[in-house]
Amino acid sequence: MLKLRNALQHRLLEAVAQALPLPAAVDFPLEPATKPEFGDFQANGAMGLAKVLGRPPRQIAQVVVDHLQVDDLCHPPQVAGPGFINFTIRPEVLAAEVEERLDQPRLGVPMAQPQQPVVVDFSSPNIAKEMHVGHLRSTIIGDCIARLLSFRGHRVLRLNHLGDWGTQFGMLIAHLHHVAPRSLSGREQVDLGDLVAFYRQAKTRFDEDEAFQEHSRREVVKLQAGEPESLGAWRLLCQQSRQAFQAIYDRLDVQLVERGESFYNEALPQVVEELEKARLLVVDDGARCVFLQGMTGKDGQPLPLIVQKRDGGYNYATTDLAAIRQRLASPDAGGEGAERVIYVTDAGQSNHFAAVFQVAQRAGWVPTGCRLQHVPFGLVQGADGKKLKTRSGATIRLRDLLDEAVDRARHDLVERMAQEQRQGEEDFIAQVAETVGIAAVKYADLSQNRTTNYQFSFDRMLALQGNTAPYLLYAYVRIQGIARQGGSLVAAASPICLQAPQELSLARQLLSFDEVILEMEQDLLPNRLCAYLFGLSQTFNRFYDQLPVLKAPDQSRPTRLALCRLSAETIRLGLGLLGIKTIDRM
Ligand code: ARG
Repeated sequence: MLKLRNALQHRLLEAVAQALPLPAAVDFPLEPATKPEFGDFQANGAMGLAKVLGRPPRQIAQVVVDHLQVDDLCHPPQVAGPGFINFTIRPEVLAAEVEERLDQPRLGVPMAQPQQPVVVDFSSPNIAKEMHVGHLRSTIIGDCIARLLSFRGHRVLRLNHLGDWGTQFGMLIAHLHHVAPRSLSGREQVDLGDLVAFYRQAKTRFDEDEAFQEHSRREVVKLQAGEPESLGAWRLLCQQSRQAFQAIYDRLDVQLVERGESFYNEALPQVVEELEKARLLVVDDGARCVFLQGMTGKDGQPLPLIVQKRDGGYNYATTDLAAIRQRLASPDAGGEGAERVIYVTDAGQSNHFAAVFQVAQRAGWVPTGCRLQHVPFGLVQGADGKKLKTRSGATIRLRDLLDEAVDRARHDLVERMAQEQRQGEEDFIAQVAETVGIAAVKYADLSQNRTTNYQFSFDRMLALQGNTAPYLLYAYVRIQGIARQGGSLVAAASPICLQAPQELSLARQLLSFDEVILEMEQDLLPNRLCAYLFGLSQTFNRFYDQLPVLKAPDQSRPTRLALCRLSAETIRLGLGLLGIKTIDRM
């Protein structure tokens, strides 16, 4: 409806200018109607002008309506309530829009103007540590944001800010000396198997054995000095973690470019130097830090952001500062040339990013027009409202979590097929189970407002009813079923003629896809798109349950088939932006 809304808005402003004695152009916004009874759009500007003009708002609304020329687009606008103006688009105008959209792969969504180079920093797990559900959330939400922005035409660089550096590597390399010494000289290929278990063993040893602690410290120093053997060991550890992460990304169909923390090592001294030059650096108790403005501790004193520790080591924040410089620097200077950088992490890191962004700003590293943005999300909780754990209390491995979703999806499918006395090849079952299981996990996450905590429940996410992936996929499958029963969806087209209320409401819902996408881009809330797709699927199901399609009278069949086709395309594109694949049968 974007096009219609813009056209109406334009005419509305013209009418306002003619109808009212205003010194300058005023805002008279047109919004989507809050309820279907009010039509398609409403304008509430009269209320705001009542004071300025000293006239009752209803009277103002009426003069505006008297000057409005919109007969070609809508029914005569109505003044309602205290002074709203309601607009209802004519069915033939909606029909023309539907016809036009049938030929548009973008389904009415315009390309962004201007198109920006954007970095989306997401997923970003840590080497040799658990890739936990928080990283899963970042991966799913970040991927969705990246897909959305690319679809809008922005140049998106998807960066995995892997935690691949830090003092924990001393301990890991020391442990490697004990369990697989030959791997260190590269004389032996080792498969460390479960790196998380490896990490745990190393940590236990570290906590218990003083000699091992000493050894670990020496290894850190050697690694930082770039000794070939240490670097080799570090690479080996990274390589093995990387494989485990990649398996998850492949399964989730998520693309990422690895740009781990280690990438910024060489730039760290320079970050500190520049902060010094910008006169932001203060030495406090041996540590070099920047005192933050407007961020105070419990004692009311400004908090420091430590960029270099007493022992000379750098930390997470220093690396993020170096990363900001790199991402915003122009390509000529070897940078990414981004104009917007989006960080998708849990809300627990909000203060970290606020601090880092502030320091980057004060250091003059953020060119005007560039934007750094933290996109936070809440925790993933179990049914008990606590942090998600296995029954035995251990953290859940992502692989196991995805396996379980797929197993359950498979179980549901097999049961349904038995009930319906359907036969299915093993290939078919495996493919549907994988798609539905992964879709359910992603959708459950995306359909929640990301800023709140969300309760993980296999039962809920896999239900065939409600705001779930299976429900949406099923609506799509029903439409493919129509095509299989001989209703050629491709040939379905003009002339479209919308008459039945179910046809009209489905058409309206289909046409608002473009607005939803722009809204979602505004606040980067994928749940908006989910809510829309759920509503659309419900409207489609009502339409399809209440009106014949294949057996419709000749004058209605093409229209209904066209609405089916556009519904399928909208669901497919919408789910695609969420990173969810559709299937033709289930
Ligand atoms: N590795 C971090 C973690 O596991 C997330 C990194 C987010 N990105 C960043 N540029 N700091 O919490």
